[in-house]
Amino acid sequence: LSPSLSLSLLSLLYTTNATLVHAREGGSAELDCNLTPTSKESTTPNLFPLHVVEWVRLGFNVPILIKFGVYAPRVHPNYKGRVSLTRGASLLVERLTLEDEGWFECRILLLDSKKDNFQNGTWTFLSITAPPVFIKTPPTFVEVLLGDSLTLSCGAHGNPRPTVVWHKDESQIEKHEKIKVLNGTLSLASVTRNISGVYKCHVSNTEGNLTHYTQLQVKGPPLIIISPEDTTLNMSQDAVLQCQADAYPSNLTYEWWKQGQNVYHIESLKSRVKVLVDGTLLIPNLIPEDAGNYTCIPTNGILTPPSASAHLKVKHPARVGRMSRETYLPAGMEGVIICPVQADPPVLYVNWTKDGNDLNLDKLPGWIVNSEGSVFITTANDNAVGMYTCTAYNSYGTMGQSEPTQVILQDPPSFRVPPRPEYLQEVGRELIIPCEAIGDPTPNITWKTPTAVTTLPILDPPIFLSANCTEQGVLLQWSPPEDPSSPLTGYVLQARRDQAQWVILSSNISANQSELLVQGLLRVMSSLFLIQLMDKDQSVWPLCFLLSQPDCM
Ligand SMILES: *[C@@H]1O[C@H](CO)[C@@H](O)[C@H](O)[C@H]1NC(C)=O
Ligand SMILES: *[C@@H]1O[C@H](CO)[C@@H](O)[C@H](O)[C@H]1NC(C)=O
Ligand SMILES: *[C@@H]1O[C@H](CO)[C@@H](O)[C@H](O)[C@H]1NC(C)=O
Ligand SMILES: *[C@@H]1O[C@H](CO)[C@@H](O)[C@H](O)[C@H]1NC(C)=O
Ligand SMILES: *[C@@H]1O[C@H](CO)[C@@H](O)[C@H](O)[C@H]1NC(C)=O
Ligand SMILES: *[C@@H]1O[C@H](CO)[C@@H](O)[C@H](O)[C@H]1NC(C)=O
Ligand SMILES: *[C@@H]1O[C@H](CO)[C@@H](O)[C@H](O)[C@H]1NC(C)=O
Ligand SMILES: *[C@@H]1O[C@H](CO)[C@@H](O)[C@H](O)[C@H]1NC(C)=O
Ligand SMILES: *[C@@H]1O[C@H](CO)[C@@H](O)[C@H](O)[C@H]1NC(C)=O
Ligand SMILES: *[C@@H]1O[C@H](CO)[C@@H](O)[C@H](O)[C@H]1NC(C)=O
Ligand SMILES: *[C@@H]1O[C@H](CO)[C@@H](O)[C@H](O)[C@H]1NC(C)=O
Ligand SMILES: *[C@@H]1O[C@H](CO)[C@@H](O)[C@H](O)[C@H]1NC(C)=O
Repeated sequence: LSPSLSLSLLSLLYTTNATLVHAREGGSAELDCNLTPTSKESTTPNLFPLHVVEWVRLGFNVPILIKFGVYAPRVHPNYKGRVSLTRGASLLVERLTLEDEGWFECRILLLDSKKDNFQNGTWTFLSITAPPVFIKTPPTFVEVLLGDSLTLSCGAHGNPRPTVVWHKDESQIEKHEKIKVLNGTLSLASVTRNISGVYKCHVSNTEGNLTHYTQLQVKGPPLIIISPEDTTLNMSQDAVLQCQADAYPSNLTYEWWKQGQNVYHIESLKSRVKVLVDGTLLIPNLIPEDAGNYTCIPTNGILTPPSASAHLKVKHPARVGRMSRETYLPAGMEGVIICPVQADPPVLYVNWTKDGNDLNLDKLPGWIVNSEGSVFITTANDNAVGMYTCTAYNSYGTMGQSEPTQVILQDPPSFRVPPRPEYLQEVGRELIIPCEAIGDPTPNITWKTPTAVTTLPILDPPIFLSANCTEQGVLLQWSPPEDPSSPLTGYVLQARRDQAQWVILSSNISANQSELLVQGLLRVMSSLFLIQLMDKDQSVWPLCFLLSQPDCM
């Protein structure tokens, strides 16, 4: 009963001299009605005059019970089998329901009375209380996808009206959380993982209480709890990269990728690697090629799987990769014999042999071995022809000599018929500009219109160049031009010894770089260094700086 209704009921009871009867749902109630005749009207002391008892319910057109004399009472269909008279005219109502709450009036009509009228009615209010009964509950097990919305409805009826309280894992749901509870319904706009748990809906009123439990599980992609770590190992050791994830649903599988490819699809790895059920990647007996980034991807088929990566470094003695069988050098021009070094830790030096003997650069002016281990020859001539091998060393030693490369001298192209500097021809007539060249192999001839030459950008040289001798080599440092007139794409480093020609030591120094360690054999040379700038067309502009000789000897 709401407070205002109880108040008006009380005032009604007071003013009409009516009575209030409380009863529980399912129980029974007796509504009193006195069948005491007034002394005047009784003809015989022991006999109650002939009468009709009528129980009327407010809001019903037909009385719920009418009894006359010895005849069986007539009962309203809603009350069939549930009402009877006791102690004369009192009404006994059994198997009460919440709908039985209301006003009842007892009327008694005395048939042999001189005055043919009903005795004034007796009014009774029947109030039914009921313990809570669930009318809706959520399922006992609920799965919801991460990010989806969620609604759990819980409702009960009863009298007084039950209150609904939600708990999560035995603690009351806090107001500040994103979970809203309105009129028994719990709702959430976007489900997060941490809302998984046991939810309890408790309904209660003065008559009793009920509890309903719902287990909530959030379905989502796995969550990585142990990520692989960057690892450095020596060759022929075993690598163990850990990866562990938690997931619901828990049908997890782990995939490992190396630089965009599944490890089971990489030729050098597939026969050796193992991915354990707990996600760990095993690579036994490491080889240098195993170095790289490894990415662990745990998946359970839900949404986007997460990933975690680690870098594997494999330290090994320096070695030489695939050497070309033949190296061609242009006769009379600058040439290079490449040693494809692979080394971690970095290469310290590269020794070369020519035709089976150690190559002694001191006896070959204009020859130099750059920091990458390649031989630069300022002017290639018949001296350069031969069989070469290289051997790279780092702090771990070497993995041996390279395959040999046969150095072959070839004629660079030269003009046989160069075009004249100027041609004059009448408008409308054909002009033939001859250009012929010779060389081995036969050179291609391309023509360029000279317009580009006039729009060449002016590049500014780097400033503050310095060279310093360190344990590791010659450390070159410079500052880039402050406000270059054309964007830089990189630097080129050249060096020369004595009066020999300039030799490129490094041609791809990033524009970001402002220092460079020149390692290896250069330490023993007294060299002049030159830094050049490169623009976006990869053109090198001869804006150079000569460095003071590093005093390394
Ligand atoms: C019946 O009620 C009326 C007023 O509602 C009152 O005047 C009358 O005296 C009552 N009669 C009896 C018999 O109580
Ligand atoms: C509250 O829920 C009850 C039943 O559970 C329903 O009868 C009532 O209309 C609801 N009230 C509001 C404001 O939604
Ligand atoms: C659940 O996680 C969200 C963020 O993902 C956070 O805002 C919220 O406070 C957390 N709730 C609980 C109960 O830990
Ligand atoms: C719920 O009802 C039980 C009896 O059924 C009673 O012992 C308990 O105290 C009630 N709990 C609350 C919170 O009303
Ligand atoms: C790798 O090898 C080097 C030299 O061979 C040794 O000093 C180093 O301790 C080794 N590192 C590991 C992790 O075994
Ligand atoms: C390897 O991963 C690191 C970050 O873990 C990243 O910085 C690096 O660029 C990756 N290298 C390659 C070759 O993918
Ligand atoms: C895991 O089970 C879900 C259904 O429960 C399914 O959709 C998914 O494909 C499964 N994932 C894997 C990796 O088996
Ligand atoms: C390789 O060169 C270094 C330095 O030039 C020299 O000390 C070393 O003896 C050479 N090693 C061999 C095997 O020739
Ligand atoms: C010369 O041209 C041919 C065909 O256009 C091409 O295949 C070849 O690589 C070119 N050679 C050089 C040295 O540019
Ligand atoms: C060269 O190195 C020494 C010692 O590290 C340092 O004191 C000196 O400033 C450096 N010189 C230049 C030009 O960087
Ligand atoms: C640039 O030089 C480094 C060695 O200093 C080499 O590893 C790299 O592949 C070169 N890059 C290009 C684009 O030539
Ligand atoms: C230069 O550095 C910037 C940021 O410092 C970086 O975004 C850019 O990729 C770098 N460029 C090169 C060629 O390394």
